[in-house]
Amino acid sequence: MRNMQELGVILLAAGQGTRMKSALPKVLHPLAGRPLFLHALTTAQRLAPSRVAVVIGHGAESVRQAYGGEDVVWVIQEKQMGTGHAVLCAKAPFADFSGDLLILSGDVPLIKESTLRAMVEQHRNRKAMVTLLTASLDRPTGYGRVVRDAAGSVTRIVEENDASDAQRQIREVNAGVYVVSSGFLFEALSTVKNDNQQGEYYLPDIVALGLAQGKIIETLQVADAHEMMGVNTREELAFMEKSLRESINRKWMLAGVTLKDPDTIYIDESVAIGKDTVIGPNTQLRGKTVIGERCRIDGTAFLTDVEIGDDVELKFSVMLTGSRIGAGAIIGPFAQLRPGTELGRNVHIGNFVEAKAAQIGDGTKANHLTYLGDVTIGHDSNIGAGTITCNYDGFQKYKTKIGDRVQVGSDTTLIAPIVLGDDVYVATASTVRQDVPAGALVFNPREEKIREGWTEQKRQQMKGKAK
Ligand code: UD1
Ligand code: CA
Repeated sequence: MRNMQELGVILLAAGQGTRMKSALPKVLHPLAGRPLFLHALTTAQRLAPSRVAVVIGHGAESVRQAYGGEDVVWVIQEKQMGTGHAVLCAKAPFADFSGDLLILSGDVPLIKESTLRAMVEQHRNRKAMVTLLTASLDRPTGYGRVVRDAAGSVTRIVEENDASDAQRQIREVNAGVYVVSSGFLFEALSTVKNDNQQGEYYLPDIVALGLAQGKIIETLQVADAHEMMGVNTREELAFMEKSLRESINRKWMLAGVTLKDPDTIYIDESVAIGKDTVIGPNTQLRGKTVIGERCRIDGTAFLTDVEIGDDVELKFSVMLTGSRIGAGAIIGPFAQLRPGTELGRNVHIGNFVEAKAAQIGDGTKANHLTYLGDVTIGHDSNIGAGTITCNYDGFQKYKTKIGDRVQVGSDTTLIAPIVLGDDVYVATASTVRQDVPAGALVFNPREEKIREGWTEQKRQQMKGKAK
């Protein structure tokens, strides 16, 4: 019947993370684009627990905000007196709970769902009080060691700081992930003492306490030690980031995406990429970026929260943020799309073009040296080189509206608010201040003067001065 038992989750995330030497709480440092603590939390949630409590302290408000959701109970640990004390702080939300509790550390992000499931299953099958995840490490430094007796049964966990020289030789370590029967957990924790090197209440002390009471304590050794790695320093964070990045890149390559130089390509976990897309070196794909099939990204590209249709070509060096790009578009080289930009199909945005909050219709082109801000452009229009939408007068932003099949000549300034109707023709070097009706030509008449022989005259004049 125990398999029918409820599962609760407690995630520990109250510590400052002193070894990070950071003003930012450790659990908020990003790993593959997501705050550290969210990795273990979302993995645990895949086990469909009936209740989840997160213990927070340092930067409590920002940790809460980083999660955003409503489906967890936040427990405040005012003073960080150790992992045992932290779990005890979560007693209230589990007052009427009699199932098993899965306890995770916010700084152990790579833990796998399958491992957590295996732990819960073993805990229930063996009728254990505590099941703890262990790993055998070549370099166990920093972790609590699993002490076993001659018969191989676990007797206690000893922290690095409290360990004897002989105990420090032990390579089996505590991964910091536990399944504990709730009735036993809170009762045992209330008797844990802080008579150790750090003066802290240690959660792993429940192992020795349980054994003293004749309870069954189980261990499960994780096959791939990699997944239980904790992050305590920035060096460890960087190392983990790298290995996570490698596994994300591998996943996309196996899914049919070409990465030309994977070592220089950064893809957040939240990104999706279609088949036969080719990605060149120095590319970063961040946030909720989604890329279609058969796209070509030349390289040196920085994309954040961008949706890209199929068959899009991003030429060398583009920075795209918060934008949508329709199928068949060609962007760059050296182009910037800022938030709120939406391009239709087959749009061309060329070199040194910046667009912000620009809605641009199918087949429209802006190929050179242009600023398009707060603008709506219809389909099949052509925006000439050096066109500027003057959307800001120093006080407010104004909108520009350009119709279908409009030809905007080079070196044009469009002073917003302004509307150019369909089929308008703007002559080169115009400053347009008034709305232009559909089908009209707009130009600024200027008298053009030519002075023959002027250059030679000027040269002679300047020579005279030099003497
Ligand atoms: C802990 C274990 C150690 C294990 C290692 C695995 C203890 C005493 N030691 O050590 O046996 O090998 O994890 O990674 O548990 N936290 C709080 N409140 C506190 C203290 C910690 O919420 O008062 C949180 C931290 O934010 C962190 C987690 O608990 O997310 C682990 O704490 P940390 O100080 O990193 O423990 P370790 O020294 O790594
Ligand atoms: Ca740790």
